[in-house]
Amino acid sequence: MGQKIFQTNAQLKDWLSDQNSTIIFIPTMGGLHPGHQYLIQKAKERKTNTNQIILVSIFVNPLQFCKGEDFKKYPRNINRDAELAFSAGADAIWVPDYFEVFPGGEDSHFKIQVPETLHNQLCGVERKGHFDGVATVIIRLIKIIQPEKLILGEKDWQQLIIIRKLFQELSIPIRIESFATQRDQSGFAYSSRNTYLSDSERVNAQALPNLIQDAKDIFSKEKIISLKKIESKLKHSNLEIEYIKIVDAFSLEEKENIKGICLLAAAVRCGSTRLIDHTFLMHRKPIIAVDGPAGAGKSTVTKEFAKRLGFIYLDTGAMYRAVTWLILHNSIDPSNQVEIKDILKDAKLEFKNSNLDEQKIFINNTDVTEKIRSPKVTSIVSEIAKQQFVRELLTTKQQVIGDSGGLIAEGRDIGTAVFPDADVKIFLTATPKERAKRRSLDLEKRGYQYTSIEDLEKEIKERDKKDSERKIAPLKKAQDAIELVTDGLNIEDVLTEMTYIFRSKIPEEIWPTPNL
Ligand code: CDP
Repeated sequence: MGQKIFQTNAQLKDWLSDQNSTIIFIPTMGGLHPGHQYLIQKAKERKTNTNQIILVSIFVNPLQFCKGEDFKKYPRNINRDAELAFSAGADAIWVPDYFEVFPGGEDSHFKIQVPETLHNQLCGVERKGHFDGVATVIIRLIKIIQPEKLILGEKDWQQLIIIRKLFQELSIPIRIESFATQRDQSGFAYSSRNTYLSDSERVNAQALPNLIQDAKDIFSKEKIISLKKIESKLKHSNLEIEYIKIVDAFSLEEKENIKGICLLAAAVRCGSTRLIDHTFLMHRKPIIAVDGPAGAGKSTVTKEFAKRLGFIYLDTGAMYRAVTWLILHNSIDPSNQVEIKDILKDAKLEFKNSNLDEQKIFINNTDVTEKIRSPKVTSIVSEIAKQQFVRELLTTKQQVIGDSGGLIAEGRDIGTAVFPDADVKIFLTATPKERAKRRSLDLEKRGYQYTSIEDLEKEIKERDKKDSERKIAPLKKAQDAIELVTDGLNIEDVLTEMTYIFRSKIPEEIWPTPNL
């Protein structure tokens, strides 16, 4: 393919039409550094076929500089940038001039206005119109390039949040993948503007990442943060504070209590150089809720996803099935709530074996892992699962298991009732026909008989109905869950989608996972 540098859109288009490729696009303003190289390397790792091209653009966008900012002196060195980009794995570089991006001048193109709730926070307070300029140019660039995927860094977190929201609101079907801030050995975040710092300023500037990292360490031990202390120490290092704040990582609203994923973010001036840095704060590790109807394939993909993430896997359906087995085993009438309560109140329910492939479920020391999959248990479980006592008992147990996070739980009510504050919520579903087909294969594998796929479909629909119509914690998509319809997708396809959803909610910095 060779390594190409294009200046005009026409040259680029000509070349692209010869390649018959899709584009993974990394927009930059140049001044490339190891942070950009990391994005390019990640893009390269993510190439799923040889038809994908990694295209890096270098365009110093005048619209995102405010009056008096460093537009004129922003580092411009195409040869050096090209060398860095190609050595990291870029296939082509596009270096358009202003009129390639804004052919009629900026006033003849639509401009994007970022919602105030996102703009009037953090960097947007001082940099009036900055994010409007960023959003406007991104729309121009993707219009010209028409990429399949956009790769962005988490370093400019506010920008990332704004672009994600922009694409979501305009239903732009381009995937955005983001990757962690890269730092040098001292923890100092790479940035094109670091070249402005004199040696002595660089020494002072080190206080910014150091204090943010210290605050994170203190928070993880003591669950408190003192912004006042950080402020006074930053000042002590001759850094002028523009802001230092704790905000919700997605809404960017200021937070007093750290719940969900929060961002400790700061902007300072070191001499005339503006520097930003941040870290994420969480009161526990992430929780993923996977809900959905019977036979949607939750267990298979959830188990595998847990393995890839190094998370605890919690199959809540197995818990409802285990108590159902115990009730049947003791010949208790499924509608006799008094006896059910009596037998369950002291029942010992445990998952054993940390090995995910062999997770077994025990009730009162009996291994019921296989027994709970019998058609008999399947036909009664929804009747048991709707009872208040059963739900309260199992919900509490599930919440205890998930207390410190690092867990992926599957069931019917995880995102709505068990972990309503889960960080990632996925509603996994498929048509009843597809689910009946999958269920038949599962039963065959386990050596159980079934009459016909049509009967299985009927049984699945009946169970869906019971699960969705029960009074307490019914099966329903949480308002903030992302629906994933798995018809026609194989396991690896579903895992790819789940990874994408996970990464759009959990920054790489919070949960770096090499095998995702
Ligand atoms: O394997 P399958 O998809 O058929 O279901 P499961 O996850 O093993 O769950 C079996 C039954 O337990 C469901 O049909 C529900 O009635 C009940 N259940 C529930 O009520 N709440 C949950 N969180 C999980 C399962």
